Parts: sequence; structure tokens; C-alpha cells
Amino acid sequence: MLKADGVAGSYPITDLDAEHTEKTSAPPRLRVKTSYSAPMMNDILFTPRAIGFARTPFKDTAQVPKGPGTKHEADGTLEILPEFAQGLKDIEGFSHLFVIWVFDRSDGYDLLGAPPGETVPHGVFATRSPRRPNPIALTVVELLRREGATLHVHGVDMLDNTPILDIKPYMSSIPIETLRRGWLEDAEQRAGKR
Ligand SMILES: C[S@@+](CC[C@H](N)C(=O)[O-])C[C@H]1O[C@@H](n2cnc3c(N)ncnc32)[C@H](O)[C@@H]1O
Repeated sequence: MLKADGVAGSYPITDLDAEHTEKTSAPPRLRVKTSYSAPMMNDILFTPRAIGFARTPFKDTAQVPKGPGTKHEADGTLEILPEFAQGLKDIEGFSHLFVIWVFDRSDGYDLLGAPPGETVPHGVFATRSPRRPNPIALTVVELLRREGATLHVHGVDMLDNTPILDIKPYMSSIPIETLRRGWLEDAEQRAGKR
């Protein structure tokens, strides 16, 4: 493939796809380049947009259960915007979903912090702190049922009206015995939760 960089909008692109043009008579395509240097990356990342909003019983962060071993038992709904609703086709077959959402009521970040119930600080990337460089959150919920563009789910931990960025079916092929839970293991034992 040719490597000449061009710029389409704010996205660097490679030139024509040479392999493609050799093998077919179809018109050559421009390709979006997928590997960038870190400084370049910071300039060209996409602008996230909400695909919908979570409706949950939590109006305030103090209401969301916290601490080692906490189980999230609250029900809520994920209300998907009409323009994205078609993307829910066939979702009913999955019992659990990854929900990717925004800590929209977080301000700034700390690279070190002590989570609730901890006295020792840990690195932000070793925690699920809402105060992160990119305020992106991930929650696994159980899908109870779908009603049109509304997903009824169990296990929410986000505030009411939280923007949702994406939903994916939950899958994990990691055997439980190979999972290590880092500092959480000790914290949960101290709290008598495991
Ligand atoms: C510890 S974080 C974990 C969130 C997600 N499960 C994760 O791992 O990314 C959950 C906490 O984030 C806070 N929170 C929930 N929704 C939020 C929002 N929309 N904006 C800012 N903070 C939020 C609440 O204090 C809640 O207890």
C-alpha cells in the first residue's frame, strides 16, 4: 500500500490502496490511517456522541452503593435515541451487556486516589474512579427485556440521565481461576466481603 499521507477533514489518510487497484478494476479507495503517533492521536480523536441516556434511581453520587464487594442491584433503563434504535436489533438474545458511558458530572482527574473504604492510594488505572483523564465508564448490566428503543436492565451504578456512548454484548472467555483482583482482593477480605 502507498504510504503518502494526505488530510481529509481532520483525518490523515493514506493514498490510494495499491493492492486493491492491482487486483480489481473497482475504483481505488482512500483509507483512513489507523496507526498514529501519540501527539498526533491527541489532535485527531473522534468527538464522542451520546447514543442514549440511562435512567436510574440515583440522583446523587452519594446514593450509589460503594466500597469493596459492593453488589449493584438497582434496576434502570437505557433509553436509546431514535436515530440509533435500529442498532438494537438482535440484542434481546444477550443476557448481559457492557455499557460504556460518560462520567458527565466528574470534574478533572487524579492519577492517584484512595477508593471508598481504602486508605492507601492507587493509580487511577488500577481503580474505577470517576476522576480519570478521559471520563469514560464501563458497567456490566443484566438485560431484563427490551421495549422498543428502551432496554430494561439490572445492575446500574450510574446517575440518572447519564449519557451512554456505546453498548456491546458481554462476553468473557477468561476462566475465573486465572483472574487476579489486585489490591481489591485484600480490600474485600478486610471488609469481610469475600
Ligand atoms: C466507581 S464508578 C464505577 C463506574 C463503572 N462501573 C466503571 O467501572 O467505570 C461509580 C461511581 O461513579 C459515580 N458516578 C455515577 N454516575 C456518574 C456520572 N454520570 N458522573 C459522574 N460520576 C458518576 C458514582 O459516585 C458511582 O458510585
